[in-house]
Amino acid sequence: MKRFENKVCLVTGASSGIGRATAISFAKEGANVVVSDVNEAAGELVVNEIKALGKEAFFVKCDISQRAEVENMIQKTVKTFGRLDCAVNSAGIAGTLSLPTHEYPEDAWLQQININLTGTWYCVKYQLIEMLKQGGGNIVCVSSAAGLVGQPDNVPYCASKHGVIGIVKSAAIENATKNIRINAICPTAIETPMIMEGRRKLAHNPEALEAAINLQRMKRMGQPLEVADVALWMCSDQSTFITGHAMAVDGGAFA
Ligand SMILES: NC(=O)c1ccc[n+]([C@@H]2O[C@H](COP(=O)([O-])OP(=O)(O)OC[C@H]3O[C@@H](n4cnc5c(N)ncnc54)[C@H](O)[C@@H]3O)[C@@H](O)[C@H]2O)c1
Repeated sequence: MKRFENKVCLVTGASSGIGRATAISFAKEGANVVVSDVNEAAGELVVNEIKALGKEAFFVKCDISQRAEVENMIQKTVKTFGRLDCAVNSAGIAGTLSLPTHEYPEDAWLQQININLTGTWYCVKYQLIEMLKQGGGNIVCVSSAAGLVGQPDNVPYCASKHGVIGIVKSAAIENATKNIRINAICPTAIETPMIMEGRRKLAHNPEALEAAINLQRMKRMGQPLEVADVALWMCSDQSTFITGHAMAVDGGAFA
């Protein structure tokens, strides 16, 4: 029997990178999957990949910074599949600016806080409402190594990812006796479009690429699947005594 046979698993940010790998891994392990993102075209491709594996999936467009869209995402999940067993909240942005804290513009601060922090809280809030009704569930939020330590020149990202761990720990304590576990993953450099094409454009910047690789003691970046594997383990019955944990997935960077 597969670990997630006929479970209902929701992934935000599922059109790309870590979220995409997580959605497909859930399906490979037997789950029916809700693929959610703002990028509909890429999300539909993920849905097709999951259907080709013989599992059910549908795409729901949701900007996690919009409360009503998050509520709708959870309603659609329950209306279609009847319940919500596991949720992995991977949607997030890294911003486009590299500026010190005292120069950071307010609009760019708010954009990251609204998506990475408030958006993740909306997701956790509505996921918990459903899981409390059902009497159980598992939630994983993708924070970052920047949720554990400071990161220069990107204060809203760092603050938002620290905040995600605060959400996870608070909700974990509240629900520890309610058969609901909630944990965070804190990756260092993972080879996804966010890091290759995003703020530091590693794909076009050999020096920054080398620095990103050298951050890990393994002298390589992580792969999306290596984060997805941890997310699935945190959602599975192999980690039943783990809640409120923020786990570095870092190729030894924090060793
Ligand atoms: N790649 C890394 O090195 C790394 C390291 C640490 C943490 N993370 C975190 O991992 C998560 C996934 O990142 P990734 O590397 O897979 O990036 P990615 O850019 O490949 O994927 C992120 C996905 O989130 C979606 N998204 C963006 N804003 C959204 C919104 N408002 N509502 C819904 N969806 C939205 C994007 O459309 C995209 O499909 C993010 O939260 C990121 O901060 C990534």
